[in-house]
Amino acid sequence: MNAVQLTEGIYCLPVNLESYQLFEGMWPMPNGISINSYIVRGEKTALIDLVEDVNNKPADFEAELASIPVTFDEIDYLVINHMEPDHTSWLPTLLQKNPDLTFYVTTKAADLLKSFYGVSENIHIVEDGESLELGAGKVLTFFETPNIHWPETMMTYEQSSKTLFSCDAFGSYGTLDDVYFDDQLSTRQHDFFLNEALRYYANIVSSFSTFVLKGIDRLEGLDIQTIAPSHGIIWRENPQAIIESYARFASYLKGPAEPEVTVIWSSMYGNTERLVKHIVQGVRMEGLPVHVYQVPDEHVGAILASAWKSAGLILGMPTYEYEMFPPMAWVLDMFRRKKIWNKKVLRFGSAGWVGGAQREFTKLTEGLKWDFIEPIEWKGAPTQGEFDVAVKQAQLLAKNVKAFCQA
Ligand code: FEO
Repeated sequence: MNAVQLTEGIYCLPVNLESYQLFEGMWPMPNGISINSYIVRGEKTALIDLVEDVNNKPADFEAELASIPVTFDEIDYLVINHMEPDHTSWLPTLLQKNPDLTFYVTTKAADLLKSFYGVSENIHIVEDGESLELGAGKVLTFFETPNIHWPETMMTYEQSSKTLFSCDAFGSYGTLDDVYFDDQLSTRQHDFFLNEALRYYANIVSSFSTFVLKGIDRLEGLDIQTIAPSHGIIWRENPQAIIESYARFASYLKGPAEPEVTVIWSSMYGNTERLVKHIVQGVRMEGLPVHVYQVPDEHVGAILASAWKSAGLILGMPTYEYEMFPPMAWVLDMFRRKKIWNKKVLRFGSAGWVGGAQREFTKLTEGLKWDFIEPIEWKGAPTQGEFDVAVKQAQLLAKNVKAFCQA
């Protein structure tokens, strides 16, 4: 693949990771992901962010660089917006090819450069708002945006083209194959990338939502004509669309999220499962969209995206050896880590012979700022009485979600 030109002297070098790989070693990527580096060429040349050293992917990067053409010894500066190895792990090889390049990094990134790669020379630590003249009208300005998504992160803005190289912020899952810019997307593809942005956000960024909002505030007043993230599509027709999407995703932390309900259920022998259709019926009676996930069949990566976006959650799990069915405890632990906060919540499930799931559920959801309604729990198999209560309680939960979202 060739590099993709954004404008005179600015190029994107996207490298696609395929769907069989797990992002961060744990997140399924059914549609893969792109890792985008950028070249900005004035009289001097800057490389912004780098490729992951995995599955011979740097060969794609090298071919794209050659297509511009730029040789390794022509690169004067390596700007590292973010040190996570998906953007830096090829750095040792790059340094062998060009030992003379100068790093532009934040103070914290300089510490990480040493601890990850043993690099401590040719480092220029940038001040927030500092600029670097590349000549021929190209000027890079650096903005510290910590914790999007590591503490050392910054964004880089090229003044002449008004392009923001935002690294993880405003990124998405999904490979870049035939289209690279938002104005090349069909409506279906546009929706695809926004959905992929949501799933990426819920998996990778959600814990740092407060910092996302601070970062967006930090960019206030900057004339941004193009958002060039390190994952996913480049937004040049309507960069505001992805900024507003990220601001909306971040707002779900405090809530309310969208007027939707996500039902997450697990069952050992079908006694908890038998309530699911009645739960769904109750939500639908209030006209709300309902998304249903079975645990452990569905990976928590997909569940997180739906739960993050939904103002209401209904969780079903039976008791297992005096505690909660273990796969659901894993989901709740991930909800704690990813700050799935401020939801309207109903729990249901079979108590088996004596119960225990509700006790563990109460413990695991402490601190999540969830607003519960009366749970539905029964010994052994459910009866018509439980089916009726399931409809009634799911309907009540849906009413609460609607009120929450209208408040
Ligand atoms: Fe794409 Fe946080 O690295």
